[in-house]
Amino acid sequence: MKSEVISIAIQKGGSGKTTTAINLAAYLRNQGKKVLLVDLDPQANLTQSAGLQEEVEPNIYHVFKRLAAGQDAPVDFSLFRSNDMDIIPSSLDLAMSEMELVSIFGREKLLQQHLREARKKYDFIIIDCPPAMGMLTINALTASDSVIIPLQAEFLPLKGMRNFMKSMETVRKNLNPKLKVLGFLLTKFDQRKIMNQRVASQLSRQYGDKVFKTRIRTNIALAQAQEKGVDIFSFSRRSNGAEDYSNFGEEVLNRLR
Ligand SMILES: Nc1ncnc2c1ncn2[C@@H]1O[C@H](COP(=O)(O)OP(=O)(O)OP(=O)(O)O)[C@@H](O)[C@H]1O
Ligand SMILES: [Mg+2]
Repeated sequence: MKSEVISIAIQKGGSGKTTTAINLAAYLRNQGKKVLLVDLDPQANLTQSAGLQEEVEPNIYHVFKRLAAGQDAPVDFSLFRSNDMDIIPSSLDLAMSEMELVSIFGREKLLQQHLREARKKYDFIIIDCPPAMGMLTINALTASDSVIIPLQAEFLPLKGMRNFMKSMETVRKNLNPKLKVLGFLLTKFDQRKIMNQRVASQLSRQYGDKVFKTRIRTNIALAQAQEKGVDIFSFSRRSNGAEDYSNFGEEVLNRLR
């Protein structure tokens, strides 16, 4: 199988992007795949969820800096290994990239360029995006083959999602025609909540089988695992979170076949 670069993105904060990035990566790792995680969020939540300190260097910020200066930045340059997964970490410094990249020629394609070599070494590259539609997310979408869009089943995310889809169309038109939506993933789902059910059926009406059958239930173990810096399968193999992310991972692999 050729390598697949997947962005986990939506501009709404707290939608489950980071949780999905780390646990999808862990599922794929458990299936024997070679996985690279890329933390593209200055909040560095993924970096911490993977068990690394927040301020590890060199990180993705230094990668962007070198690329923007026309310097070489091999993938190994910023590579860390934790819990049997490779990760390019992030740090608060990355917030400066949004501004620093503005005047750089080809600024939208820096990450794509950076991952070209990595594609030869990994089966999957998973990019955790920040909760904003800025230069970092545009870099992620430009570098990706597909996008997974996690959302909490509430009214507002659904509205924000339409704006996100518009921005994605623009990226597709101008920067990356082959970008595809792999699917929408409902997170923090509670079957008992009327609003959750309502949004789920509205989403299905609008996007049909683009919506993953698996819904990630609200499960405290997912938050606890993240806090401990491990994935859900290492933290609590029998939890609902592990079951849901395992089913989800299987669906992802099936969709890519
Ligand atoms: N299914 C779930 N059940 C319970 N808690 C969850 C679940 N999914 C995520 N969380 C928790 O909700 C919070 C937000 O999730 P997460 O960090 O994955 O969202 P995010 O979209 O990456 O947020 P941001 O936009 O700030 O980067 C975290 O504390 C996480 O542990
Ligand atoms: Mg996040």
